Amino acid sequence: MTPRRILHLMSGSIACAKATGLTSAWVKAGHEVRVATTASVRQFVGHATLEGFCGHPVLSDAFNPGQVMDHINWARWADVVVAAPATSNLINRLAAGLADDAPTALWQAAWGRGCPMIVVPAMNARMWAYPATRDSVARLASWGAHVLPTADGDLACGETGNGRMLEVDDLLRRIGELMEATRDGTTAGLRVLVTGGGTREPIDSVRFIGNASTGRTAATLAEVLADAGHRVTWLGAASAVRPERVAKSESFVTYADLAASLRGLLAEQAYDAIVHAAAVSDFSVGGIDAGDGPGRTGGKLHSTAGVRLDLTPNP
Ligand SMILES: Cc1cc2nc3c(=O)[nH]c(=O)nc-3n(C[C@H](O)[C@H](O)[C@H](O)COP(=O)(O)O)c2cc1C
Repeated sequence: MTPRRILHLMSGSIACAKATGLTSAWVKAGHEVRVATTASVRQFVGHATLEGFCGHPVLSDAFNPGQVMDHINWARWADVVVAAPATSNLINRLAAGLADDAPTALWQAAWGRGCPMIVVPAMNARMWAYPATRDSVARLASWGAHVLPTADGDLACGETGNGRMLEVDDLLRRIGELMEATRDGTTAGLRVLVTGGGTREPIDSVRFIGNASTGRTAATLAEVLADAGHRVTWLGAASAVRPERVAKSESFVTYADLAASLRGLLAEQAYDAIVHAAAVSDFSVGGIDAGDGPGRTGGKLHSTAGVRLDLTPNP
């Protein structure tokens, strides 16, 4: 792998100890690493350990004499920025645009320079599910940050759930792939649109003609493409499995909704690739003949009489 200059941002999580494995493995693999930490990281891992691994003083206090311009200089120096572990606090501060310590200032100063910006979350399952954190993750991803998934399992707090930081070997592989995808220093990836799930053509207010598509294939494709560094837009059925970590999401119910959304998205920007995994109905319900039966109540056809449906082919 090409040697890279990795700016490793750390925030205060029990996963700090695990994240030192990243610093150490990167240095062993021939990369240059600099580490910047939030104040609370000292509660979890000592600066001596971090400096020992990366061979460079750690930046924690942006006002430290002799280091006052490092929050800009290190951002210029970096080929890739990795926030690992990223606490709920750090993720929300990055998405809110705060820059009141070394990692947040460095993140902003590095933004837009063309280097991949990677977030590696680690937290309790409820903190990971907290609405502000969900919104911040979606916001950072929509701006082009690569927010890696979390794992299920035992959490340090004794609970079980999703929020665990990925294991070091898995992170080294995923971050390595992102670094390789952006070796020429340009922003990672292609603009990809993925459609998924099945359309539903209404018969009345509660019934529809649909199909059994879950949208799982499209969601998996979208996540794999996003993890590989591409900017993914997902256009999926309202009832489909939703992917995480995509840059943008829109949903549809009917064939007509899907067609309108597709036109809108294609008018907004050009895509390098479109993956049509949606299961689209061949027919819309053209006319409904309920004969001499009692008709409808509140939009719902009565079930006591037969109904004839006139199906018209979709374009
Ligand atoms: C033992 C311990 C473990 C913690 N682990 C996490 C964690 O994994 N993820 C997280 O978001 N917060 C965790 N916290 C809470 C954060 O350390 C706390 O929100 C802190 O203010 C984060 O500040 P920072 O993001 O500036 O580092 C933990 C706190 C303690 C005391």
